Amino acid sequence: MKNILVTGGYGFIGVNFIRYVFEKTDFDGRIINLDKLTYAANPFSLSDIAKKMGKRYVFVRGDIKEEELVEDVFRKYEIDTVIHFAAESHVDRSIVDPGEFVKTNVFGTFVLLNTARKFWGKGDNFIFHHVPTDEVFGSLGEDGYFSEDTKYSPRSPYSASKASSDHLVRAYYHTYGLPVTMSNCSNNYGQYQFPEKLIPLMILNILEKKPLPVYGDGSNIRDWLYVEDHARAIWMILKNRKIGESYNIGGENEWRNIDLVNKLCEIMDKKIPSDKFSSYKELITFVKDRPGHDYRYAMDCSKIKRELGWKPSVSFEEGLERTADWYLANKEWVENIKTGEYQRWIEKNYGNR
Ligand code: NAD
Ligand code: DAU
Repeated sequence: MKNILVTGGYGFIGVNFIRYVFEKTDFDGRIINLDKLTYAANPFSLSDIAKKMGKRYVFVRGDIKEEELVEDVFRKYEIDTVIHFAAESHVDRSIVDPGEFVKTNVFGTFVLLNTARKFWGKGDNFIFHHVPTDEVFGSLGEDGYFSEDTKYSPRSPYSASKASSDHLVRAYYHTYGLPVTMSNCSNNYGQYQFPEKLIPLMILNILEKKPLPVYGDGSNIRDWLYVEDHARAIWMILKNRKIGESYNIGGENEWRNIDLVNKLCEIMDKKIPSDKFSSYKELITFVKDRPGHDYRYAMDCSKIKRELGWKPSVSFEEGLERTADWYLANKEWVENIKTGEYQRWIEKNYGNR
């Protein structure tokens, strides 16, 4: 791997992945971050990396749907590895406005695959790693786990668009022999996550003493994984290069939403005790449920554990502490997000596309 194209590298997982590769692996090549800079992207999240890495880190502002631009990137930077994170990623937004999810997640993935097909050159060292989600498998009841062989059954516009992109990736592997790998991951949490997602939303609302909106009765279950463990898993899959394989990744760490929010309140009660509330739990407010809200996701990760020796390394207790500490320590990043300063900076430096 010499020239890695990371799509969506200014989003939550992209940022953590790029940091992981530069800071915790022996990679000595170049990363090209292709990102459209949507509302979910934040260039400040990698400003130290950009400075430190010099020519080994390149940012290209661009849309994965634009074929010419994507071709230019492949040609100019001699891409040999693609890690495809770029997507519209928030389920609630997909319910309100599904169009962009279909455009970016389905058509955007198609453009990348088609370009990879043109430039791949049948060389041994090319690889296209796609990043699907556990949500493509649908919703579980009280028992059972998703395995790599579970039939796809997406139920939100977001998961349907991601499932479509996964089918395209498999089709390019089977039809054209494009060397692909895939990993379906459960809910990630950690530093640099945009505060529309449950954990950072709750932390920032606690800081502002705002209501903590729990959908429905809070009984829905998610399997949480610390984002750096996800980054490490992807890196191991890339190094292992078992073409055509897909792996389930998860935290083996299931929580009902209400229990998780209670836990976060307890953590924050200790870190920043309030003189107004005996506990931030008093801020919990049950609100109207998400339409079509999937009840439970849970991953069977035995394949990646068995074949690659990967397992989650950060306990939930430790990961939540780290995450809360990060949001408390990074006031400027939080302020940028809350005031929209990062978007104004993007417009000033890159124009409003
Ligand atoms: P995110 O929303 O935080 O970031 C997405 C990034 O993609 C942003 O930087 C955005 O600007 C960029 N982007 C969006 N549309 C683009 C386009 N048309 N062209 C170029 N760039 C574009 O998302 P995330 O949480 O970091 O998720 C990354 C990937 O991982 C997604 O594919 C998501 O489906 C998948 N995933 C996420 C999770 C999770 O828990 N967050 C779990 C499993 C899989
Ligand atoms: O499972 C992987 C998926 O996890 C990824 O593919 C998605 O990109 C990512 O956004 C995430 O999807 P979820 O819908 O599970 O994450 P979210 O943080 O939006 O919600 C987590 C749970 O919390 C879900 O059951 C809905 C609930 N929720 C969410 C929000 C934002 C609330 O109760 N209140 C809230 O305000």
